[in-house]
Amino acid sequence: MKDTILVTGGAGFIGSNFIHDWIANETDSIVNFDKLTYAGNPANLASLEGNSRYLLVRGDIGDAEGVRSVLQEHQPRAVVHFAAESHVDRSISGPDAFIRTNVHGTFVLLEQARIYWSELSEADKKAFRFLHVSTDEVYGTLGPHDAAFSETTAYAPNSPYAASKAGSDHLVRAYFHTYKLPVLTTNCSNNYGPYQFPEKLIPLTILNAIEGKPLPVYGDGMNVRDWLFVGDHCAAIRTVLERGRTGETYNIGGASERPNIDVVHAICDILDEVKPDAAIGSRRSLIRFVKDRPGHDRRYAIDARKIERELGWRPVERFESGLRKTVLWYLEHPEWVESIRTGAYLEWIEHNYAERLV
Ligand code: NAD
Ligand code: TYD
Repeated sequence: MKDTILVTGGAGFIGSNFIHDWIANETDSIVNFDKLTYAGNPANLASLEGNSRYLLVRGDIGDAEGVRSVLQEHQPRAVVHFAAESHVDRSISGPDAFIRTNVHGTFVLLEQARIYWSELSEADKKAFRFLHVSTDEVYGTLGPHDAAFSETTAYAPNSPYAASKAGSDHLVRAYFHTYKLPVLTTNCSNNYGPYQFPEKLIPLTILNAIEGKPLPVYGDGMNVRDWLFVGDHCAAIRTVLERGRTGETYNIGGASERPNIDVVHAICDILDEVKPDAAIGSRRSLIRFVKDRPGHDRRYAIDARKIERELGWRPVERFESGLRKTVLWYLEHPEWVESIRTGAYLEWIEHNYAERLV
């Protein structure tokens, strides 16, 4: 094996943050295997162009031959698997791609990783890791007074996205128990930070609020998410990869539960302060409560005590400071914003919001 890790889906939001974080903090090279769907953007990694430690290979995790050849050619010591269809609303409008990539694609990747791993020397076999990045959404929804999700909470996915990620988690587990492939699974809460595609709540709200457009809030705005700054998430993944016990799952959370309406208010207030606009006035006036998402989970919360107790990781970013950094990042990167507002983005905004905002 070489001092290389294979990252899938590294041109997306969390994957690209992870690659920047890895290049800055570790010594291995990275091969980024990414299909470059609407959510994958090589511009997220433009600053690594020409860096001999970074290589982008365009490919689909569902293509066994493509996966086999990237593993054979680069001989990675680990696979860190981010590639997925990741947006709940899109999974409601079109679940097909979610089953194909998240379930079948993960299966193909596992199977090729197993074959590659089985041919390694005994020492390399022992050192190899397959880290699967998953979500807290596999656990379903919580009531206001329920205990947060722990690693032993029963799976109860409610959206096609969550069900497809639950399916992938089960496959990863099965490859450990059946074939002894050295896997690790992480289930994290909602991430936020730089490079997030603006179809998710935080970047959508930031960009609309900058421009004085309506801010769509589903239902009564009291759905709760446990926000995790993406930099904290990247550090957690590095920690689990280095010291996690194979076959185990680790929940990763930001210890920052907030109702959606509070998040939207906070973004409005930061922008009113740092980029006041007399023509817009108070950004809070842009908020529109719109038709709810079907099957909308009410509350997510992560109990992250296992990763803290066993591996010493805990989040360091406070939600208020992380959100301010994120707002400033979008203000400081207008070219990036323009580059992703292309066909697929505009079509989605029309599809999801045209009727809601009439
Ligand atoms: P994203 O949608 O921003 O990026 C996904 C990336 O995967 C893109 O670069 C895309 O091109 C690539 N991809 C999609 N299908 C592929 C395929 N078939 N083959 C190869 N590449 C493919 O997603 P994200 O927000 O960065 O999420 C990364 C991972 O973290 C996902 O597995 C997601 O389920 C999980 N996760 C995300 C969050 C969150 O808040 N964003 C929370 C919990 C878990
Ligand atoms: P999202 O960013 O899509 O992440 P997830 O569905 O994975 O939690 O949504 C976060 C929360 O924000 C969720 O409760 C749905 C809500 N939401 C809105 O109220 N309005 C929107 O336009 C979007 C995209 C999400």
